[in-house]
Amino acid sequence: MSNLELTSDAPADANDGAWLACIECGETFAPFDAVRYTCDHCDGLLEVRYSDLPTWDDFREDERGVWRYAAALPFEEGVSLPEGDTPLHEVPGLEEELGLARLRVKHEGMNPTGSFKDRGMTVGVRVAQEVGVDRLACASTGNTSAALAAYGARGGMETLVLLPAGKVAAGKVAQASLHGARILEVDGNFDTCLDIVQELAGMGEAYLLNSLNPFRLEGQKTIGLEILEQFRDEEGSYPDRIALPVGNAGNTAALYKCFRELVESGAMEESEMPKLTGVQAEHSAPMVEAIEHGWDEIERWDEVETRATAIRIGNPVNAPKALPGIRETDGTAVAVTDEEITDAQRALAGEGVGVEPASAASIAGVRKLREEGEIAADEQVVCLTTGHLLKDPDAAAEAGVDPEPVPGDTEGVLETLND
Ligand code: F0G
Repeated sequence: MSNLELTSDAPADANDGAWLACIECGETFAPFDAVRYTCDHCDGLLEVRYSDLPTWDDFREDERGVWRYAAALPFEEGVSLPEGDTPLHEVPGLEEELGLARLRVKHEGMNPTGSFKDRGMTVGVRVAQEVGVDRLACASTGNTSAALAAYGARGGMETLVLLPAGKVAAGKVAQASLHGARILEVDGNFDTCLDIVQELAGMGEAYLLNSLNPFRLEGQKTIGLEILEQFRDEEGSYPDRIALPVGNAGNTAALYKCFRELVESGAMEESEMPKLTGVQAEHSAPMVEAIEHGWDEIERWDEVETRATAIRIGNPVNAPKALPGIRETDGTAVAVTDEEITDAQRALAGEGVGVEPASAASIAGVRKLREEGEIAADEQVVCLTTGHLLKDPDAAAEAGVDPEPVPGDTEGVLETLND
């Protein structure tokens, strides 16, 4: 059973009201005295805890995006490009097709490097400065590497990224490359890359900025704060459900922490917590398997495959935080096929919202759960789209219409148009 209960009793070595707590054994640690990613005693996942949890009035009026929510973060400011403050789109065509009371799309592809990862990096790189490291590293299916490279460059730090060879979308590699990361293409999948980079970090070779790092999830928590505020300001209530693609389950964990903190501070009722609904690709779906079987832990999948390469992950390291999140909010998890993902990507594009394949999984999952009757027609649903269309230009071109070659004169063009 995990130890996800929040308490305001700060341990003696808390720093400015913040500390780290192990979600398994409850042991606490000073937040910045040493580089630490998991519990020294039981290797459990760590979570950042605070003595003062904010309510809505505590957030900054003069700031948009991640740092508006500084009262919920371990710092007042970070290495910023800036990030967050992404749109909550109406998608009337899809809303009608799916037969939902409300459907909104939170488009995280509108962040500076085109994915939600920027929210974690603005905090994570600030922490790296605090603990005094100079080389940052991550394993990545692409987006984390792009964000790390950009934020590392901004913070004046060296960056190292490990990518699964041949399985990262072109836009993401181009970003990491131009922002100056050292890029190692590993003969193995993402999970192998993460195993290696964790070992390197353990040996002191670099500071790990994958979502195993609890500070990154603090930044990602602000996705939840923004969704709740935007939805409430427009609709007068919180959404019933938030659906999101799941890879390492970092966002699922971060959203659940966001909800728990709001409930603990009295800013939200427990009954108002949106149902967390995780969506995975059918051949990369260990979280769905664990939810369907009622398991407390996931079983690692060694062979994974999907066109949505961002979520081609067989060992979601944040599962111990995310599984309780899905269960406690009365949510669920569902697997979708690559074809269903592509259909959803086209449907979103048809409403002007351009996303990469993994992002479209959230819509594909909601569509499936609607068809199965798991989601009722009177529900208000927000789908998280995590990355921009241009991240994966090859997938976009494949899903879209083909360009037609024409001669270089008006007559020839007209002939083709009238064909
Ligand atoms: N969507 C996109 C576009 C992603 O890039 C990722 C993760 C996810 C969803 C899954 O999020 O891990 O919080 O469940 N990408 C990581 C990376 C693994 O390396 O860029 P999660």
